[in-house]
Amino acid sequence: MKTWQNVASLYQIYPRSFQDLNGDGVGDLNGITFRLDYLSDLGVDAIWISPFFTSPMTDFGYDVADYQNVDPIFGGLDDFRMLLDEAHARRIKVMIDLVPCHTSDQHPWFVESRSSRDNPKRNWYVWRDKHNGKEPNNWRSLSGGRAWTYDETTRQYYLHSFLPTQPDLNWDNPEVRQAMQNVVRFWFDMGVDGMRVDAIWGISKDPELGDDSVNSNFYGDPDSYGAFVHDHCKHGPHFREYLHELASVCDEYDDRQMVFEFYPDEQLGDIWPQYREVIQAHPKSSTFFMEHRQNDWHGERTGWNIVNYLQACGDNLPFFCVGNHDQPRVRSRLGFERARALQFLNLLCPGVSVIYYGDEIGMENGQLTDADIRDNFSPNHTPVDSRDLERTPMQWDDTRFAGFSEVKPWLPVNKNRTFINVTEEKKNVYSILNLHRNLLQLRKDMPIFRDGSLEIIHSTGNGFILGIKRELETERAYIFINFADAPQSFFIPEDAEIIASTHSLDLIFKEKSNLTIPGYCGILLIK
Ligand code: NOJ
Repeated sequence: MKTWQNVASLYQIYPRSFQDLNGDGVGDLNGITFRLDYLSDLGVDAIWISPFFTSPMTDFGYDVADYQNVDPIFGGLDDFRMLLDEAHARRIKVMIDLVPCHTSDQHPWFVESRSSRDNPKRNWYVWRDKHNGKEPNNWRSLSGGRAWTYDETTRQYYLHSFLPTQPDLNWDNPEVRQAMQNVVRFWFDMGVDGMRVDAIWGISKDPELGDDSVNSNFYGDPDSYGAFVHDHCKHGPHFREYLHELASVCDEYDDRQMVFEFYPDEQLGDIWPQYREVIQAHPKSSTFFMEHRQNDWHGERTGWNIVNYLQACGDNLPFFCVGNHDQPRVRSRLGFERARALQFLNLLCPGVSVIYYGDEIGMENGQLTDADIRDNFSPNHTPVDSRDLERTPMQWDDTRFAGFSEVKPWLPVNKNRTFINVTEEKKNVYSILNLHRNLLQLRKDMPIFRDGSLEIIHSTGNGFILGIKRELETERAYIFINFADAPQSFFIPEDAEIIASTHSLDLIFKEKSNLTIPGYCGILLIK
């Protein structure tokens, strides 16, 4: 049985950047509560809040020092309970982030673990001796550099798949798995409706800690993460077993959902089957569709990716995304028109359509200088590769700090706030914001968009057009996306009626079974 029966959309909030209510330049939980009416009016059914737990913030909350408390910068547990109640009062479900593979180095578990080799928590993390005077193996960290840091206190290395301040938990230790399951229960008992599960590939690694293979297709820095095929440092032999255990916790509760972070890994080949086996055994679990981040602009491949993902999901709820807090803004990657076409498509895909905060108003990457960079994953501390680009403050209005805060925010507000902002776009019937609102309303009103089947239409006779047929009982919907920059004509079912499009109807020509739409247009018809 599918869970989250009434959820057709999920809105991701990066809490530092959504709304600052206490005037310190950083967003907070009360800020989110304050903006719930906006989300409800937009037509959002569920929110996912990126980490707000106690943390020294070296990775802005993905370095957790207490899994069961709120960092003072975001508020307190009572603020979270209020947010939960207020969201539920508006029939909005609340999903939070679970960060199971690593803690902060300030977490009491790690503080104990590093204190001595015979501490009871020693085996909660991965400690190893030097190997020939060096790191135990060649594993690299995703945030740059080696995945091992030498700790003078006990003269051993500890493993960290990300920053040195994010030591990896040892999931082969049953106590660790138990502790993490209890974290899930803590939040589910409080009434949280779902968990987005971070970096799940790290729960099992090669127990022998063998070297990763060299990636012979890589021509960049031979020392970097991409220079290796990650055939030993992730998806180890116990991956499915531990994932099953974690997903089972969700089965203990009614109507909860778990969504695993998942990115295809070309070097490793098809890793889907490992996930598919688990999610199909646990109907309340799923993974995210992140193929759009590849920026591949090709109708046929896009359709193929969607169908592939849906097949892998089986009966489980799909989660379609175009961006998140780790990817440059979709509008900056593709340009306004192409991004809008993709967002249109995303809002008409089955299951849950996920919106990263600000994408609904077409926010662009921030305009940042070296001095603005806060993300420690940027190896050179330059804006070029920094995730800060997609984390700038939400643009509510055209004022100096965009209605996000009364004071200078932690990251600069984009100058384009003067025309890209909620207040302005609410007034414009053709804005991307109103396009989102209309399509989200359709998703609510017409179950076909959440629950209907999806099939690629191969008969448009036009290679630039991605055609999709959705079907539920006697209803049929047709979605066409023009991947070319010039108008295209193609065939449609004669009696289908246009009900939404990215472009004004003045630019669309329909004559019986012939339809002509502008470049980068998305159109929805119903029969
Ligand atoms: C994936 C998260 O999305 C990212 O933001 C974070 O830095 C890493 N995992 C480490 O937790």
